[in-house]
Amino acid sequence: MQERIQEIKEQLQSKVSTVTTLNELNDLRVEFLGKKGSITELSNYMREIPNEEKKEFGSLLNTIKNEANDLLNAKKEELELEELQKKLNDETIDVTLPGTKLTVGGTHPLTKVIDEIEEIFVSMGYDVVEGPEIEQDLYNFEKLNLPKGHPARDAQDSFYITDEMLLRSQTSPVQARTMDANLEKTPIRIICPGKVYRRDDDDATHSHQFTQIEGLVVDKNISLADLKGTLEILAKRLFGEDREIRFRPSFFPFTEPSIEVDVSCFKCGGVGCPICKDTGWIEILGSGMVHPNVLKGCGYDPEKYTGFAFGIGPERVAMLKYGITDIRNFYTNDVRFLQDFNRVEGGE
Ligand code: DAH
Repeated sequence: MQERIQEIKEQLQSKVSTVTTLNELNDLRVEFLGKKGSITELSNYMREIPNEEKKEFGSLLNTIKNEANDLLNAKKEELELEELQKKLNDETIDVTLPGTKLTVGGTHPLTKVIDEIEEIFVSMGYDVVEGPEIEQDLYNFEKLNLPKGHPARDAQDSFYITDEMLLRSQTSPVQARTMDANLEKTPIRIICPGKVYRRDDDDATHSHQFTQIEGLVVDKNISLADLKGTLEILAKRLFGEDREIRFRPSFFPFTEPSIEVDVSCFKCGGVGCPICKDTGWIEILGSGMVHPNVLKGCGYDPEKYTGFAFGIGPERVAMLKYGITDIRNFYTNDVRFLQDFNRVEGGE
């Protein structure tokens, strides 16, 4: 028996010394100490051992089990340490190597202006809505009090797709769509940012595609004073707390009265400079009280309801705010322009 035990011990020692992985070591543990392992099976001899020797044999068995465990555990620690060392060597990071430069994008100046204006109106309880860019003549013109043949249609030389469909020339059709969908529900308080299209020749101040933000409020007892107060808040938040606004009479078919709104020059404060062309005032948007024909045509009784509307040109606002002199810069996607702009704005 002693020899058998010695033999097993030697076998284990020699096998352990050749093991190189934790998996192999685990296999060895099973081979010797598993349910059918050679050390475990030694206890089968217990039956054949005379009673007076059983105690001694038992303690011998325990000893060899403990020794085997110690041997395997020591090897396990050794292999784990080796593995860790290998990992550390393989995964060394050379912190002195030059890094990969990440190019960070910036927000387009137009997007900044649109976001800013949206935020101002959302804080006053407006919803931001959208309308289709391919629009029906019905919404783009007719429901806005511009019947076929109306001379004011010429001012918005449009891209027609069929006799009745066109690329919208303004965001105003969203006014009509919103009223149509609301069926005399009030209040309506919306703004609608989006792209519009006109058959203009592109130059420093014209683009065949540009953006507008439409605004519409409809409720009982809405007055010109509400319009003025609202636009004053817009002007101050957009161009600075000291700004004042003034109204000038104008004409739009869908508003009566129609008003053009100027803001006191944010550059010179009103004394006169190149930005305000020495007038002290800068025109920022068109607006007015919703024409009764528009209300009626969209299902709102003009005897009960009134409203105001306005249309802002984000390009113009961005050009004023950021001193951009050519509208084409917004659309030619020249990264140098956009980078320049983002540097000015505290970007890279
Ligand atoms: N849609 C007009 C345009 O493109 C701008 C405008 C003026 C919109 C007055 C309005 C408004 O809602 O009340 O020239």
